Amino acid sequence: MSEARKILVTSALPYANGSIHLGHMLEYIQTDMWVRFQKLRGNQCVYVCADDAHGSAIMLRAEKEGISAEQLIANVKAEHTADFADFLVDFDNYHSTHAEENRELSSAIYLKLRDAGHIATRAVTQYFDPEKGMFLADRFIKGTCPKCAAEDQYGDNCEKCGATYEPTELKNPRSAISGAVPVLKESKHFFFKLPDFEAMLKSWTRSGTLQDAVANKIAEWLDGGLQEWDISRDAPYFGFEIPDEPGKYFYVWLDAPIGYMASFKNLCAKRPELDFDAFWAKDSTAELYHFIGKDIVNFHALFWPAMLEGAGFRKPSGVNVHGYLTVNGQKMSKSRGTFIKARTYLDHLNPEYLRYYYAAKLGRGVDDLDLNLEDFVQKVNSDLVGKVVNIASRCAGFIHKGNAGVLVAGNAAPELTEAFQAAAPSIAEAYEARDFSRAMREVMALADRANAWIADKAPWVLAKQDGKQAEVQAVCALGVNLFRQLVILLKPVLPNLASAAEAFLNVAPLTWDDHQSLLANHQLNPFNPLLTRIEPAKIEAMIEASKEDLAATEASNPPQGNGELSKEPLAAEIAFDTFAAVDLRIALIEKAEFVEGADKLLRLTLDIGDAKRNVFSGIKSAYPDPSKLEGRLTLYVANLAARKMKFGVSEGMVLAAGPGGEDIYLLSPDNGAKPGQRVK
Ligand code: 2FM
Ligand code: ZN
Repeated sequence: MSEARKILVTSALPYANGSIHLGHMLEYIQTDMWVRFQKLRGNQCVYVCADDAHGSAIMLRAEKEGISAEQLIANVKAEHTADFADFLVDFDNYHSTHAEENRELSSAIYLKLRDAGHIATRAVTQYFDPEKGMFLADRFIKGTCPKCAAEDQYGDNCEKCGATYEPTELKNPRSAISGAVPVLKESKHFFFKLPDFEAMLKSWTRSGTLQDAVANKIAEWLDGGLQEWDISRDAPYFGFEIPDEPGKYFYVWLDAPIGYMASFKNLCAKRPELDFDAFWAKDSTAELYHFIGKDIVNFHALFWPAMLEGAGFRKPSGVNVHGYLTVNGQKMSKSRGTFIKARTYLDHLNPEYLRYYYAAKLGRGVDDLDLNLEDFVQKVNSDLVGKVVNIASRCAGFIHKGNAGVLVAGNAAPELTEAFQAAAPSIAEAYEARDFSRAMREVMALADRANAWIADKAPWVLAKQDGKQAEVQAVCALGVNLFRQLVILLKPVLPNLASAAEAFLNVAPLTWDDHQSLLANHQLNPFNPLLTRIEPAKIEAMIEASKEDLAATEASNPPQGNGELSKEPLAAEIAFDTFAAVDLRIALIEKAEFVEGADKLLRLTLDIGDAKRNVFSGIKSAYPDPSKLEGRLTLYVANLAARKMKFGVSEGMVLAAGPGGEDIYLLSPDNGAKPGQRVK
């Protein structure tokens, strides 16, 4: 075998202010399968990642929660690492961009760029929130679209008509943080002179580092001319201060990719066999691959290689881009329950089902991938349970019963084992090329052949005939050997299934090259079911739980934004007519009860004067004894579209304030209010 390759692999660093969902998981599973394949082949492959911990969004969220940014990012990191581990994503290191290694590397890279003349400074005029005392990024400014007059639009584009514009073009601009009218203010900004690297980028992006579709997109940008990139932000900002420039901070996207290096450096301190320079120096012979989504291509295929080049480091060997995840053919949707958090999935389903489904659908292109939930159930059940695991479960019993669990030597169908061995290089090639769907198709074609052969030999029929015991054992021994081959070929995708199979086979952890041999005269361990079928009810439960997540978020974070005004950003101003469109009523809570199977919901039966309404409300955490709510008056949104849930239809919503958990406070009118009265 040729010499082991040295490969460093990364996935994009998730922001430290939100939960991981199944869209994120597409990338981590894709990367993890590729890394596991490289390790199985005997290459030295190192997979690092980190939380992307900087920026104003994180600073403001921490403020809103009343905790420090450090506390927020520590909480989120604990949640992220548990989600990844439970999805069997096996990072060699998971770090944070808010770490000393990253501060040092970011400063060093900036200073090298500055000293080589690649940094420019100039004054920039921007909206500033005079109440909050901070400059406002475009998404923190709201106002009326200059093109179509839609209200409540962000500072850079209109969600209603699609127009893009400068924040200064918005009519009636407001700070989304304090509600104040922003003022224009000037400040000094630092720019990375990307145009200095145009020639290098033109050749690097066409040197096999990018998929064709991505290289073509970048060529359009390159032909349109490169702009200098603003890499500084003014205090207050959660990030690293720029060396020699008090009050100026690196923009989060400057130190985020350097976080890849920092995570690796942090790992080098724990694993002495790893040498930082061997992977990052300009003359490094190691390979470096970044797996990312198509929304962040400019950062990874323009700014990042240019920064590395300018600071004297090696550039990536490849940037591997994937498309977005859709669920049932549509964008993930909170109200449809298809915005599924990693944890919600894990509460209901085995991570390997999703790993396999993603593998079966992931090609090497940038197309979006659809998680069609019916197809998911069907494919996993038919391929993994019906084809792969079935081989072992069909054969194991006869070997235990008829031969004390010992696999006999010999090969009952050499043409079959030869076909399996001959297929391995093509499957390896597909994995290497990240064409997981081809790899899965080829593995399943082998599984079909194995099943057809066993069905033809029918050991269950032979076992009932006299004098056929040797044949039964020969057939089943080969069956188990073919199963072992399939497990090797699927191991990058299904690591848990592989270790359960290794326990049954009574073998050391399998490597890729093990597919060349067969087990003979070998004692097996007892067979336990390796994987069970997906029950469709579990899918429904997961969708319902995702809707519940939404109801719980609404209860602790109602769209009208109550909570402490000083901490909670004010939503953008709305016209009176918009407010008047909400039909708010006084409601009497007649009944409040737990909902079987729901962790966060209470079922409220409301009397709204001339009618009764059924509402599911995510306030259970604050009202452990729901009967105490009975007889109480509250405020009710009567004209909110009904939402269908597993437990029934939720008709409207009651109003509560507070951050969540035990701190949720149902609103009540003064004494004298009557059910059904409209709030004006
Ligand atoms: O888009 C994102 O979610 C970013 N947090 C990705 C950062 S990747 C890298 F550059 F750090
Ligand atoms: Zn518009």
